[in-house]
Amino acid sequence: MDKIRWGVLGAAKIAREKVIPAMQGKEGFEITAIASRSFDKSKTTAENLGIAKYYGSYEELIQDPDIDAIYNPLPNDLHVSYSLQCIQAGKHVLCEKPLALHADEVQTLIHARDKHGVKAGEAFMVASNPQWKKAKSIVQSGELGTLRAVQGFFSYYNRQRDNIRNIAENGGGGVWDIGCYPVFTSRYVLGEEPTRLAALLDVDPEFGTDRVGSVIMQYPSVQMTFTISTQLVPYQRMFFYGEKKALEVRIPFNAPIDQANELHLHHGDIVGHKVEIIQLPVSDQYTEQAVEFSRAIQQDLPVPVSLESAYQNTRILEAIFQAAKEERWINLT
Ligand SMILES: NC(=O)c1ccc[n+]([C@@H]2O[C@H](COP(=O)([O-])OP(=O)(O)OC[C@H]3O[C@@H](n4cnc5c(N)ncnc54)[C@H](OP(=O)(O)O)[C@@H]3O)[C@@H](O)[C@H]2O)c1
Repeated sequence: MDKIRWGVLGAAKIAREKVIPAMQGKEGFEITAIASRSFDKSKTTAENLGIAKYYGSYEELIQDPDIDAIYNPLPNDLHVSYSLQCIQAGKHVLCEKPLALHADEVQTLIHARDKHGVKAGEAFMVASNPQWKKAKSIVQSGELGTLRAVQGFFSYYNRQRDNIRNIAENGGGGVWDIGCYPVFTSRYVLGEEPTRLAALLDVDPEFGTDRVGSVIMQYPSVQMTFTISTQLVPYQRMFFYGEKKALEVRIPFNAPIDQANELHLHHGDIVGHKVEIIQLPVSDQYTEQAVEFSRAIQQDLPVPVSLESAYQNTRILEAIFQAAKEERWINLT
């Protein structure tokens, strides 16, 4: 397979503004087609972005024999059903986070993936970002000393009534939209799964979706806390604290594509402490994701973020809702 021919389901903002541009004009893969519920919208989007084929239904794109792989950026509640259709049509599928709203449904996708012999994964682009690979290698090298704590924060402000993030039926709310990131990146860096968690959620009375959430998770080797919000000043950080040094991932999730990402290594002391700045080369994490996923198809390698990982992440996110509702620790083992 010379070039992986990708199709996109839905003219989603993330697809139009980030993922499609990041996947165009590259070796090894191309965006061949886009589908929308509206034929006019797919035509306009295709013309604006220079995409050769466009369809007025997702099903037509899924059945197109000239498409090898499908990127699924539909609302969260449609991730599993459409990814399943893609797999059943023999297509590889890269599905946006959160891949599912129920862990059991990921098992359905795993069975289908194995039956149809395709590649399938969750689009956690952070896993393909050089800054997170570096963060993982620093933590795992022991340079920080014994690691004892991880902390995360991720927030933005969005009260748009018609945004899928504020619509409960679409799988809206902060936990599904951004809580998935501190959970995923801590699992990714630590190479462990949390054993139990407790959580507080503040639900928007109008939308019925969570707008602030704080979670404490026990990992086998460390404690982790994180807070997320859909109604706070935009901010994001991740910290990994060892006995000797602390690692700060400064723009952990929405890493810019036009400037170098920085990791800050804090050497201790409260006042005037030394900060070692590690600069990563300028890169686009959505391109890196497409490179790794396309290569996985071409060379029969593991995808960057597997369905097995998605299963674990979904279990943890579900447990956050349960912990908050039942006001107790939830055991994850
Ligand atoms: N990895 C990342 O960095 C990242 C960033 C942002 C978002 N995301 C994920 O990407 C997905 C899309 O997010 P987004 O902000 O791009 O959303 P969006 O702009 O609202 O796009 C969602 C698309 O889904 C289609 N759709 C089908 N049924 C729909 C329905 N009932 N209501 C609304 N849209 C419907 C629409 O396309 P048509 O009308 O063309 O059919 C719509 O454009 C979400 O799962 C989100 O978590 C990931």
